[in-house]
Amino acid sequence: MPSQVHISKDAPAVAKNFARFFAEQLQGQDYFSVALSGGSTPKILFQLWAEEYRNKIDWSVVHFFWGDERCVPPDDNESNFGVCKTLLLDHIDIPAENIHRVRGEAPPAEEVKRYGLEIIDNTDTVNDLPAFDLIILGMGDDGHTASIFPHQMELLTAKKPTVIAQHPTSGQTRISLSGTLINNARSVAFLVTGVKKQEKLNSILNRDIDAHTYPAAHILPASGELYWFVDEAAMSSYDTALRHQDTKD
Ligand code: 6PG
Repeated sequence: MPSQVHISKDAPAVAKNFARFFAEQLQGQDYFSVALSGGSTPKILFQLWAEEYRNKIDWSVVHFFWGDERCVPPDDNESNFGVCKTLLLDHIDIPAENIHRVRGEAPPAEEVKRYGLEIIDNTDTVNDLPAFDLIILGMGDDGHTASIFPHQMELLTAKKPTVIAQHPTSGQTRISLSGTLINNARSVAFLVTGVKKQEKLNSILNRDIDAHTYPAAHILPASGELYWFVDEAAMSSYDTALRHQDTKD
């Protein structure tokens, strides 16, 4: 399934165009499961949703999950849920039962199972696996995505929907969706901004020979759609013939 690349002038424009895309995806839906990513790029999106989409979206149909979470308490600065709560969840009218956070404070070996069951119980099943309506991902400077890092490529093909991962330098333990589950989603959207992502992003989009060493290159939804929402700083030599220049800057 070819991916669609939406190019915007800068990170705020990426968030704006993705928010418009998200609102379109919600049209006619009475239940929409979406997994959020951590990192800095989504923060702009969370703030935009809170400020401009608070009353434009029926948040009661949205069920938030996380693509990965650090194994820390929810009030820790490192918590992906904690950041989202502060910037978004505390500002929109969304039922508490629609928030499916990873309990970062729990023992990882227990939580990886519990969270996997929560996903199974609250998403559709396709190909005998949970299928999110949408998974939002970022990409690290090393080409990681969710918490699947280059030193743990085996997590891409793990049979389980959720896995325990470690950050390569800090050693921080994390819970992540497996690549197997990510590739079972109906749609996957990467939000990638900044010049530091340029080398890996272009290697992946151009399917360069070394792209296979980057986890993000292995995100190819089996039957779902793959979207890249990127800014000009992250793009360079990407083959312009493949570009889908976003006209809504
Ligand atoms: C995390 C994220 C991680 C993130 C990338 C990109 O928990 O850190 O899920 O995969 O998406 O590191 O982060 P930036 O958007 O900050 O570049």
